[in-house]
Amino acid sequence: MNKTVLEVKELRKDYTVKSHKKGKKKVIQAVNNVSFSVIKGETLAVVGESGSGKTTLAKMIMCFEKITSGSILFNGENISLLKEKKAIKDFRKKVQMVHQDPTSSLNPSKTIFQIIEEPLKVHKFGDKNKCREKVEELIQLVELPLDFLERYPHTLSGGQKQRVGIARAIALDSELIILDEPTSALDVSVQAKIIDLLERLQKEFSLSYLFITHDLALVKNFADKVIVMQLGNLVEQGKVADIFNEPKKGYTRKLIKSIPVVEQREQEYLDSIEI
Ligand SMILES: Nc1ncnc2c1ncn2[C@@H]1O[C@H](COP(=O)(O)OP(=O)(O)O)[C@@H](O)[C@H]1O
Ligand SMILES: [Mg+2]
Repeated sequence: MNKTVLEVKELRKDYTVKSHKKGKKKVIQAVNNVSFSVIKGETLAVVGESGSGKTTLAKMIMCFEKITSGSILFNGENISLLKEKKAIKDFRKKVQMVHQDPTSSLNPSKTIFQIIEEPLKVHKFGDKNKCREKVEELIQLVELPLDFLERYPHTLSGGQKQRVGIARAIALDSELIILDEPTSALDVSVQAKIIDLLERLQKEFSLSYLFITHDLALVKNFADKVIVMQLGNLVEQGKVADIFNEPKKGYTRKLIKSIPVVEQREQEYLDSIEI
């Protein structure tokens, strides 16, 4: 049975901002009537140009941003109705986020050990020894050497920092990971390795991913389904192969056309060699 982990129904987010006209207010429909679902163990890619509402969508699912209307069900429970601190904390154990910029999302004054240990401490995972064991297991899962644990973020490359972000996101019994442009600050070759890692972890732990990107090429071989967003609206959704082979909307065709051929060739080359 395909279990639905996340179900988003008719979700909206309006921001009211001051307009340049004196005293006038303007409403921005950042997310407008969006519905989709994510199945356990699958990757749903959210694709769209800058300003299409992708990050706003992620923030609402993480309960960082209030919704204007609609509903968000996680394992059948309406999370926008969660009020109790404990309920929100339990939810946070299961849904984690990996941010776009690995430099600003890791605390520069903490060691890698402390950074990965933090969610374990917050959720009272266990005593000191149990936490150390778990952190060591996690750093190995993301294929970094153990001695990195004593280092500080500024001594790591972008790709290595993003691996630490991923280790932190899977520290607890996460079911859904929201990745907001996790590789857009990285070189193409590093991007490919991070995607490989994500795929391996997904299989091992039956993780579901909501993978946000402006780069449709990146998700071609990775995502199961795609939703295409434009100016807050969901313009098209479907299985990844259908979106690529038979895009129904002009906007999607434009996104596919904008994939540079060189990048595609480079990707094929990278896929064909052992790194
Ligand atoms: N806090 C905010 N206040 C007002 N407008 C916002 C806020 N956050 C985002 N927006 C607007 O909402 C729209 C969608 O933004 P965002 O979700 O960041 O898009 P994306 O992640 O796809 O680039 C944009 O027009 C943006 O300017
Ligand atoms: Mg964004």
